Amino acid sequence: MSRPALETRELNKSFGALAVANNIDFRLEVGARHALIGPNGAGKTTFINLITGRLQPSSGRILLAGEDIAGLSQEARVKRGLGRTFQINTLFRGLSVLENVTLAIAERQGVAGGIFRVAGAYRRVAEEAYALLERLRIAEDALKPVRELPYGRQRLVEIAIALGLKPKVLLLDEPAAGVPTPESAIILDLVERLPAEIAVLIIEHDMDLVFRLAQRITVLVQGGVLVEGTPAEIAADARVREVYLGERRHD
Ligand SMILES: Nc1ncnc2c1ncn2[C@@H]1O[C@H](COP(=O)(O)OP(=O)(O)OP(=O)(O)O)[C@@H](O)[C@H]1O
Ligand SMILES: [Mg+2]
Repeated sequence: MSRPALETRELNKSFGALAVANNIDFRLEVGARHALIGPNGAGKTTFINLITGRLQPSSGRILLAGEDIAGLSQEARVKRGLGRTFQINTLFRGLSVLENVTLAIAERQGVAGGIFRVAGAYRRVAEEAYALLERLRIAEDALKPVRELPYGRQRLVEIAIALGLKPKVLLLDEPAAGVPTPESAIILDLVERLPAEIAVLIIEHDMDLVFRLAQRITVLVQGGVLVEGTPAEIAADARVREVYLGERRHD
């Protein structure tokens, strides 16, 4: 098998006596469309936070393109190609969408410091940013200040910024959560149209979307992998059905 884009080996994390990541062996293949599902509190967000470096594992390894990144800062992981959506409060709310994405790309290219002194460089980066917004079909918002956009549109800007950093792996934790339906459809449409070469790991509760998007699905329960497989295998798995039917009864 070829080297995965991202891999965890025996990844563990405990909060006191509570094991929230329990020996997770996980592989995200290059260019994969992989969903991580499981009931509330299963440890999905924790798993993403361990990969991004927001949380330190109790033990285990995290490999990005075969290299151990467990000791690296969050920023260093982003530079190595680990993309994730940024929290909305990291956007520059007074700046336009285009300026936000331009700054992200400038930072990736390491020209952020001197960029405004070099008009040619600025134009090139802004053009790349604008082309990205066009590809994501949000160019109509390019010149609007982020703070004037509805919440769902701000989440699109977060994804644009993540993509502007040219990730090899993109981690999406419920990208459409809390977004009203018309806008959430735009977000999910964008997720479906992400460049094929990016490996995408998405956490999502909407099973219609999961089954439409994912080629592989990992089911996490109480911090451990219950089962992993193709959508057909997961749909047919009695243990998975039990977890979800059990959950639904408590809703
Ligand atoms: N900083 C923390 N300290 C203590 N416990 C935590 C911390 N963060 C998360 N937990 C616990 O870890 C468990 C897993 O939480 P996590 O947020 O990863 O679940 P999740 O699968 O993302 O759930 P959801 O689907 O609701 O988003 C939960 O029991 C949660 O209460
Ligand atoms: Mg979560």
